[in-house]
Amino acid sequence: IPTPISPVDSDAVADSFVFAFDIDGVLVRGGNPIPEAIEAMRVLDGENEYGMKIPHIFLTNGGGKTEEERCGDLSRQLQREIKSGQFICGHTPMREMAEKYKTVLVIGGEGEKCRLVAEGYGFKDVVTPGDIIKHNAATTPFRKLTPEELKNSRERNFDDVVIDAVFVFADSRDWAGDIQIMLDVAMSQGGRLGTRSETFDQGPPFYFSHNDVVWSAAHEHVRLGMGALRRMFEITFKDLTEGKGKLHTHAFGKPQVSTFEFAERLMQTWRSTEHGISGPPQTVYFVGDTPESDIRGTNAINDVAKNDWYSILVKTGVYQEGTEPAYKPRATVTNVLDAVNHGLQREM
Ligand code: G3P
Ligand code: MG
Repeated sequence: IPTPISPVDSDAVADSFVFAFDIDGVLVRGGNPIPEAIEAMRVLDGENEYGMKIPHIFLTNGGGKTEEERCGDLSRQLQREIKSGQFICGHTPMREMAEKYKTVLVIGGEGEKCRLVAEGYGFKDVVTPGDIIKHNAATTPFRKLTPEELKNSRERNFDDVVIDAVFVFADSRDWAGDIQIMLDVAMSQGGRLGTRSETFDQGPPFYFSHNDVVWSAAHEHVRLGMGALRRMFEITFKDLTEGKGKLHTHAFGKPQVSTFEFAERLMQTWRSTEHGISGPPQTVYFVGDTPESDIRGTNAINDVAKNDWYSILVKTGVYQEGTEPAYKPRATVTNVLDAVNHGLQREM
């Protein structure tokens, strides 16, 4: 009788392949883990027939908190430690823009959390909708700041403030108020609140941390996401400026190839610091639930990357069984555990 391997004691690490996971609709739904996700993480941690650890990272379009805080949440949900060195959320690549703009308006997320995230990225002067409403309560007729928001928002005179760029870090908690403020900035003279441009082509650039029109939350049907907010903003701007205005909008996150390139860099660093592996993996298995962002992006990076990015679609989120995905995955499986086993079987 062969001695069974004790997986957890094993030092074996897979060095030719890695996994990358989307979060909402793959590992978590509405704040609760998808049951197979916990088992899938165990397999990655070495509880597999080869007793082998499998390096992996997480790439979500979600956000609204620091990477450390998000990793804390995910660690609790998946019952094992997840470190910020293996984690990218929608706004993580925005940190590379911190030197480019002086004063930025940050939209989305709970309370003032996204201001703190932006400041943590090195943005020097961060304005929030709360600051603007505190300065002029007439800005949003139906939104009054709560006592908490009044306390946390900052008093400033906006007469001399120039908004150099707008960053939508996370989903808006007040679409009407936030779209109103975004339109005010987009229609202003060069980002000066309270002014109106005659030509509507002087507004600052708008960056969205992703473009998902819908996402998979606790409800049985998909829920509206940041991509829907972006569309409402763009269409309303067009209507208000009678099609004459010019907007500069840009989305980060999946499916942007630049986000996957960012993930590739993070993955190299993670493999080297955590597992002592140098050089790139041959195959990256990306497991996602949204064809438009996860599968589209994985297939697109695969066209330009040197290694093989292999897209796996699961049925626990946005994608609905029986429908034709707009972007075709290399494999479709039921859940994330099946995805991990699918990759393992291909490799071993
Ligand atoms: O707001 C988050 C959502 O749009 C998608 O998250 O983890 O599925 O990329 P995820
Ligand atoms: Mg998802």
